[in-house]
Amino acid sequence: MLSSAHLLRRSTIHSAENSGLYSGMTAGEFQSALNPAAAESAHIVHLWWIFFWVTLVIFALVAVCLFIAILRNIRRGPDDAQLEIFAEPTQATETRGRNVVSVLVIITVLILFALLIADFVTGNAIYATPDPNALAIKITGHQWWWEVEYKDPQPSEIMTTANEIHVPIGKTVKLELQSADVIHSFWVPNIHGKKDLVPGHPATTWFTANRAGEFRGQCAEYCGEEHALMRLVFVAEPEEQFSSWLATQKKSPREPSTDPQRRGRDVFVSAQCVMCHTIQGTKARATLGPDLTHIASRKMIGAGELPNTRGYLAGWILNASALKPGVHMPPTQLSSDDLNALLDYLESLK
Ligand code: CUA
Repeated sequence: MLSSAHLLRRSTIHSAENSGLYSGMTAGEFQSALNPAAAESAHIVHLWWIFFWVTLVIFALVAVCLFIAILRNIRRGPDDAQLEIFAEPTQATETRGRNVVSVLVIITVLILFALLIADFVTGNAIYATPDPNALAIKITGHQWWWEVEYKDPQPSEIMTTANEIHVPIGKTVKLELQSADVIHSFWVPNIHGKKDLVPGHPATTWFTANRAGEFRGQCAEYCGEEHALMRLVFVAEPEEQFSSWLATQKKSPREPSTDPQRRGRDVFVSAQCVMCHTIQGTKARATLGPDLTHIASRKMIGAGELPNTRGYLAGWILNASALKPGVHMPPTQLSSDDLNALLDYLESLK
C-alpha cells in the first residue's frame, strides 16, 4: 500500500522534473547517455551506436533465416520435413552444412574481434593522459548524498558544497572519488560513464564538458534504502559564469540583515542543526551532513530530490524522513516562529 509520504514523494519528484530545471530539457535528455555534453560521453555514445547497429543487423539476419526455414518446412508439409530429419545425410549435404557453419563461425569471430577493437579504441580515447592543469574536485559518497570539494593548493581556498557540481566548459576536470560508508557509483550519463566509489579505494576519472547545460547525475550502485534518490545536479557553464559561481561559493555568506534572519541564525546554532552541518562564518562546523554555507544558491534539496523552495525546505527540516524514508536527518521540533525565522535565514544564504 502506498503511504501519503510515498504519494507526496512521487508527485514532488514529478514536479521537479517539470519545474523548469535542467534548462527546459525532458527527462530523456537531461539524464541520457545518448545526449552527450562532454568529449568522453561522445566517445561512449559512438561505441553504443556501433554495438546497436551491428547487433540489430545480426538479429534481423537471424530472424530472416529462421523465418525462411520455417516457411520452407511449412510448404513441404509435415511428412516431408519428418523424412528429411530422419534420412541419412548424403556426402553433399554434410559438406555443404560444414561449410556454412565454418563460414558463419569465422564471420562471428571477426565481428566480435571488430567490436573488441572498437571497445579498446573508445577506452583509450576516454582514459586520456592526465592534465596537470585540470580542475580537481573531490567527491565523497555518503548514504544518501554527495559531498563535493573544490580542491586548491591553498587550504583557505578549498570550497565544500553538496549535491551540486558546476564545471567550466572546455576545461579538463579531474574527479577524485571516495566513499564514506558503502559502495556508491558516480554517474552523470550526459558527461561520462559510471565510476564506483569504493570505501578505502580512492578512484580518479577525467572529463571535459563541451557544451552548457544542466544535467542530472544518479548513484548507479545499490547503496541502501534511498539509493534511487541519491542524485545530483550537474551544471556545465561558460568559464566566466563558473568563476563567478566559484568565487561566491568560497566566500562566507552575507551577515543576516533582518531581525528574523538573525533570529534564524540563533535558532540554527542553538538547535540540533549544528551537530551535523557547517555554515561558514558561524560556529556550525560539523561535517556529518551536507555543508549549508550557500544552501540558498542550490537548485534542489535532499540530494536532487526536491526543488529548493521554502515549503519543501520547511518540510525537510521538520521531518525529512517523511520526504525521504531512511534519511539520517532526525526530525526537528520548532515553534512556527522559530521555523519561519530559520527559513528566512537559510533563504538568505545565497
Ligand atoms: Cu549511493 Cu546508490
